[in-house]
Parts: sequence; C-alpha cells; structure tokens
Amino acid sequence: MSIRKFVAVLAFAGVAAHAQTPALKDAFKGFFRVGAALNPAQFEERDTIGAGIVRSQFNTISPENILKWEVVHPRADAYSFDASDKYVAFGEKYKMFIIGHTLVWHSQVPAWVFKNDKGETIDREGLLKRLEDHIKTVVGRYKGRINEWDVVNEALNEDGTLRQSPWLKIIGDDFLVKAFQFAHEADPKAELYYNDYSVENTPKREGAVRLIKKLQEAGVKVAAIGLQGHDKMEWPTLEQQDATIQAFKALGIKVNITELDIDVLPQATQQRTADVSLSIEAQAKLNPYVNGLPEDMQKALAKRYADLFTVFCKYKDTVDRITFWGVRDSDSWLNGWPIRGRTSYPLLFDKDGKPKPAFQAVVDTAKKKK
Ligand code: XIL
Repeated sequence: MSIRKFVAVLAFAGVAAHAQTPALKDAFKGFFRVGAALNPAQFEERDTIGAGIVRSQFNTISPENILKWEVVHPRADAYSFDASDKYVAFGEKYKMFIIGHTLVWHSQVPAWVFKNDKGETIDREGLLKRLEDHIKTVVGRYKGRINEWDVVNEALNEDGTLRQSPWLKIIGDDFLVKAFQFAHEADPKAELYYNDYSVENTPKREGAVRLIKKLQEAGVKVAAIGLQGHDKMEWPTLEQQDATIQAFKALGIKVNITELDIDVLPQATQQRTADVSLSIEAQAKLNPYVNGLPEDMQKALAKRYADLFTVFCKYKDTVDRITFWGVRDSDSWLNGWPIRGRTSYPLLFDKDGKPKPAFQAVVDTAKKKK
C-alpha cells in the first residue's frame, strides 16, 4: 500500500471511530449538560476541527477569555463587544446553553478600574458605580441570551477567608451582594453563580459555604456554585469531590463543574491552586511527554476521568452542567500555566481532534448509570 493510501485509511478509521461513539451531550441526556470553553477561532469557526467537535459533542459553551473585563471593557469610556457578539451568535446558531464568564474577578481586570481621575485609589462609591455600570451594560446587552453568569470568580483564600482583592479592600465585603444584585436587576432570568477553585479542600469549602449562606441571607438568589475543576491525577480525592457536592446540595443550590481539566504532567508545585498569576520556571523533567502521552498514562487518565464522572452522575439531580476548559489538548491553558511551553494532555480530545481513551471511559459512566 502506498504511504498516501495508508494515511487515508488511518484518517478514515479515525473519523469512523469518532462517528460511532455517542456524543457527550447525548450520552449524558437526563444527567447534565456538557460543554467546553471556547476561544475565538472556535466560535468564529476558523478552527474547523475544534468548531466541529463543539457542534457535535456539546450543548453548552463558555467564553475562555472574551467576556473578562480587560477584553470587554478595556477603557473607562469604551466597551468592546466585537468578540462577545460573535460568541453569543455562535451559541444561538447551534442552540447552546450560553455561559458568561466572568463579571467580578481580581485577574484580567485593567488597573484603571481601581483608580479615580487623579490616578489615586478610587473610593467605595466610585467603584460601586463602576461595578454597577459594568455589570448592567454587559449583562444587559445579552439579556435573555446569555443564560448563566459567573458573577464573582475566586473571592476566597485557601483558608476560607475573603481574598484581599481590590474589590474587597475598596468596597468591603458587601461587594459580592452588590454584584449579584446588579446582575439580577440587569437580567432577572439569568442564573447567577459563585465560581472558584480548590473548593474541594475543607477550609476553602467551609468558607464557600459561609459565603453562599451570607448571600442567601441577604436575599440574593444564587443558582449554583461553580467548581472550576482544574483537577490533578490524585486530587481531589473522590471523597473530597463527593463531600463538596453534598455540602452545597445541602444549601439548595446546583453544583456545576465549570472548568474541568485533569493535569497529567508532573506537578510543578504542591499547591492545589488554579491561581492564574502563578508562574514557575521551565525544567525539562516537568515536560516529559513532548512526543505523546504514553499508553499507561492514557489509561490512568481515562480511569481518573471515569472515576470523577461516576461521582458527578451520582449527583445528577444537583449537578446540571459539566464544562471542559478547552476542546482539544492543544488549546488548553495548561500548555502555558503554571509553566510556559509544556505539552499537556488534560482534555478528552487530542491535538488532532480524535477522542482519547478518556472520552470512551467518560461516555461509559453514563451507560452504567442508566
Ligand atoms: C485562563 C484562560 O484559559 C487563559 O487563556 C488566560 O490566559 C488566563 O485565564 N480560572 C478561571 C479562568 O476562572 O478564567 C482561567 O482561564 C483559568 C483559571
């Protein structure tokens, strides 16, 4: 057989294998929605492989970066909705449940937000006004079209206390209540979330429970907690995952996995964090799979994904969305964080868009439960 013919047969086999498997969104019907975070190349359909996977596999989408403050509201007098309009149009075209991420965060927010006209730290009233204007303008623009907003992202420290962000320091701890109120006023039907990482660890989980209770006591309607789910092979344990879902279920809210990926690379730090500001120096031994993931690791990743999905399926009445943070391995932020330039394998589709063994393992967890 000529090399060209051989390659064609291989390509056909790949496509056929993909077509046979049920799509994630169909496999988990009756359980939860399944989605992915998109970059512009995907929602503009320039990345034909990526966009194809999104259309066939997912029924909910999140914006990886384009609805963050620095993109959508780069200057005090200027909003920029070019990218977000396209993102929402893509979601509507393919009847996706559309997520907005995120309104209040300490990262990817320009410095001007916290300064007054004189360049000094802005006062509480000034910042509240800015927050209200931002939330009402952005949420209002997509009223009835963006179905869910991550209103506040990462307000907690690892010990469960409130993070000393400029929002907390300048406004005080009612910045959370205010943000939820502004979002609710802008779109009363949108589902509003508190979103964070490492909530599976007990001190942070207890802090998040206190935070949600405070919001509820203030009369704010919190639809769900978003567990980011930037997971490792050994963390969180299945017990931690289970206990975390239960803790928030007890508060009467949904528990959704909003940014799922599983890092198989050697850990650069023992910290269980997804802090985007973390930056660690590159070392060859921390980037061992440049030419592909070994079979035993592929299998271990598949098992790890299946174990986690088994827990998610157990709570199908509480979990109503699982979103992966990216589509193909090559898109993942974990190729650049916390070390730049690594080759990472955290998702269900490889760089060529082929489903990995983890894909089938995940789909099988739904079959077992039905
Ligand atoms: C990440 C994006 O994936 C990167 O492209 C960007 O450079 C930094 O932010 N928690 C979050 C996400 O809530 O918004 C972050 O996304 C990943 C961690």
